[in-house]
Amino acid sequence: MKIIHSIQELRQTLRPLRAGTIGFVPTMGYLHRGHQSLMDRARQECDTVVVSVFVNPLQFGPNEDYDRYPRDLERDAAIAEAAGVDFLFAPSVDEMYPSESLTTVTLRRITEPLCGVSRPGHFDGVATVVTKLFHIVQPDKAYFGLKDAQQVAVIQQMTEDLNFPVEIVPCPTVREPDGLAMSSRNVYLTPEERKQATVLYRALRTAKEQIEAGRLTRAADVTAFLEKEIRTQPLADIDYVQVLTYPRLEPVDRLENERIIMAVAVRFGSTRLIDNLILPEE
Ligand code: PAJ
Repeated sequence: MKIIHSIQELRQTLRPLRAGTIGFVPTMGYLHRGHQSLMDRARQECDTVVVSVFVNPLQFGPNEDYDRYPRDLERDAAIAEAAGVDFLFAPSVDEMYPSESLTTVTLRRITEPLCGVSRPGHFDGVATVVTKLFHIVQPDKAYFGLKDAQQVAVIQQMTEDLNFPVEIVPCPTVREPDGLAMSSRNVYLTPEERKQATVLYRALRTAKEQIEAGRLTRAADVTAFLEKEIRTQPLADIDYVQVLTYPRLEPVDRLENERIIMAVAVRFGSTRLIDNLILPEE
């Protein structure tokens, strides 16, 4: 595996490989088994696999964890190499944003609910950096995790709206044995917070069972049910609990034929965790 820091070098390196398929996994590093599942899938499906590690300042709000976001390129390189990745692209902030950029990629509506409320500008930052990375790597396929289901919806919408010649491949959420969704941010949790954080997936699973048994039939009832379950944990501070259509993320009342997402964001101390279930599950 080769580590590349410069855009120009990555472009030159990839040019002769374009006869085959190029798979791309964008990340912010501190790689875990969730990221690994995307790399594995890319490795299975593509001739060349590129992973990027870039903590994108554009997608962090002023009071968010950009400075303390965990970073360890050496460890990331070892994990990527073991997953059979060909190129690890790790640009500096200056390489990605050499001068003040006047261009932002903005999506309406789909970026507004859920994480759009408490993280204004976040999805513009994501859409903009992913656009740049797509133009740099020019992949045939790009792999994203459904742990960040709104991000997948945003990237798919953008790709369709702007005719990016890339296939977006959504991949299932990888979890710890007790159900907690794997996340680079889990390292922030204290042991007690870590224990209580298992309520997210437990609540989502129970709600799913209730819906499937016909005991919860309206979005508002599901939301109330989830909130009640999550509030059983004293350290859980709810940011949002919502039920929307997926992938359009529009309001829904009766749960009938439409595909829906149950999405939650909950703070444990200073750590904000997200999780979701999409129904019907694929
Ligand atoms: P990051 O949080 O590092 O995640 C990189 C990719 O890994 C995303 O597609 C995310 O959904 C996926 N991922 C994270 N945890 C996962 C899990 N438990 N199971 C499955 N997939 C998981 O998402 C970002 O970085 C950034 O916003 C990025 C797209 C790189 C743009 O900066």
